[in-house]
Amino acid sequence: MKYTDIHSHILPGVDDGAADMEETLEMLKEAYEQGVRTIFATPHYIPGRKKKSAEELRQIHAEVCVAAKESMPDLKILLGNEIYCREGVLSSITEGRALTLADTAYVLLEFSTHISYKELFGYIKAISGKHYRPIIAHVERYGCLYRKEELIRELIGAGAYIQMNTESLPGGSFNRQAAYCRSLLEKGYVHFLGTDCHNMQARKPQMQTDLFKIKYARYEEQINKIMLHNVDCLLTNKWI
Ligand SMILES: [Fe+2]
Repeated sequence: MKYTDIHSHILPGVDDGAADMEETLEMLKEAYEQGVRTIFATPHYIPGRKKKSAEELRQIHAEVCVAAKESMPDLKILLGNEIYCREGVLSSITEGRALTLADTAYVLLEFSTHISYKELFGYIKAISGKHYRPIIAHVERYGCLYRKEELIRELIGAGAYIQMNTESLPGGSFNRQAAYCRSLLEKGYVHFLGTDCHNMQARKPQMQTDLFKIKYARYEEQINKIMLHNVDCLLTNKWI
């Protein structure tokens, strides 16, 4: 199985992810060894906060692609942003300051962990209303959605896609949060997986290691669907 990681902070020196090109390449090598062949670099974008421009990110992304090509020629590195939803987010997207995933209509969205459901739903409606395809990053983090499957269903019905972090899946039966995350995966509510890796220390790329810590066979069908069908729809900019 070849994996696609749609959420990572591998670009050097642009956010709280990789510190420099050396760490970027170490992270990519680790991901590659775990079977990742497509990885989205999704540096944080926070409306109104000073950061690298889209053009600067494209330049740095191109440099990373060149640096990785020699040792990992079949690794596809694509660019996007993890876009924080607050005032100004819609114009940031429509005016191209915040990047969609690989220039498709898919956008990876982050929210305050304390956001109300009403506000979160409002962002999904507003962004999908502009013909973008919103992906809710690490769905397991938001208090308003925790153990509320009916709300997750409603969001999917309103045009949202769901991303879960691989690190949230492993855990014993006493780990209720991990059990909940696995149940969402098993029921087909998870459209994409990401490692959300930031560095080579506490938050390193853990695609395969995390997936194989769960009883893989039980979730194999869903993981195959995510990695084959859903990823293909994302890369070809089609509806899932
Ligand atoms: Fe992230």
